[in-house]
Amino acid sequence: MRLLAVETSCDDSAVAILDETGTVLAELVSTQMVHEKHGGVVPEIASRLHMTVLPKLIREVLEKSGTSLDSIDVFAATAGPGLTGSLLVGLSWTKAAAFALGKPFLGINHLSAHLHIHHSSPVEFPAVALLVSGGHTMIFHMLSWNECLLLGTTRDDAAGEAFDKTAKLMGLGYPGGRIIDELAEFGNPDSVKLPSPLGNKRKPEFSFSGLKTAFLYFIRDRLKENKDFIKQNRNDLCASIQRTIVEILTDKLEKAFLQTGISEIALAGGVSANSGLRERIKWLAKKHGWKVFIPEISLSTDNAAMIAMTGYLKFLAGEFAGLDSSPLARLPI
Ligand code: KG4
Ligand code: ZN
Repeated sequence: MRLLAVETSCDDSAVAILDETGTVLAELVSTQMVHEKHGGVVPEIASRLHMTVLPKLIREVLEKSGTSLDSIDVFAATAGPGLTGSLLVGLSWTKAAAFALGKPFLGINHLSAHLHIHHSSPVEFPAVALLVSGGHTMIFHMLSWNECLLLGTTRDDAAGEAFDKTAKLMGLGYPGGRIIDELAEFGNPDSVKLPSPLGNKRKPEFSFSGLKTAFLYFIRDRLKENKDFIKQNRNDLCASIQRTIVEILTDKLEKAFLQTGISEIALAGGVSANSGLRERIKWLAKKHGWKVFIPEISLSTDNAAMIAMTGYLKFLAGEFAGLDSSPLARLPI
């Protein structure tokens, strides 16, 4: 059995092929660098680039895995949540291939796929998962891979957006999370005191827009006195932002642990690549006796291996989708 999975929910085109044992035979991710100069993803450009890149990427992954297109037995693609135009490209290509070859098609929930990256790890349920990406910040009480109760989410921006938008204010480029992470290593995290909105709330709910605004006002005032303030203090600013975001996330994770008593903790999504977050979670694991599951960095950010793995389980369960399935910008887990 060969399953071909396609991911195009945002600005990464990704393809993976998986075999009947659930092993990924080949996978590739192509990241669209063009958005960097716009300081964020431009949806129209993203969907057009998926159109150009996806067929080549599929050819390369087929070659890498020694598979021909007509020997693919099942096709899977991200159905949402994500940018509608981007989703449409991956979904349309994959549904067309399934239709032409008379093979089944599976529509995959991107958020559920991020969590499925831990499927081959010895996670015991119930577990608590922190899913942190460019579009989502969610804490789940997981009863199984498919039964996820939402304990809390963000009221406004996602954690990844907080990284990306503060990086943009400093002129650091896009996506800013990884850049802040790299520079934070050389800075003092105590140099700027930033707010932690909803910090005292018992519910593990998040809000990041206030942090971004406070940072904007802070640097605007400093720039009035010294036009080189950002250049001279870049590492300290990055370290302070990173420390604040990591503390907000991990305080809420601790609240979820205290609320549920669950000590199996899984981390997923692009922000889980953050070194400060990974370190702090490991430290908390020692403090509370948590068993933590942290994805490899390449599997934290968007990839098609997670789509393939989720598709594989749906395939085994016989949960196929119709060829009339459309992209869904919002798709609850
Ligand atoms: O999961 P992902 O690849 O795409 C979405 O589903 O959104 O997450 C992308 C987000 C971006 O906001 C990016 O800045 C952030 O993950 N990110 C990081 C790091 N690497 C990626 N944030 C902080 N530190 C990193 N090392
Ligand atoms: Zn994602």
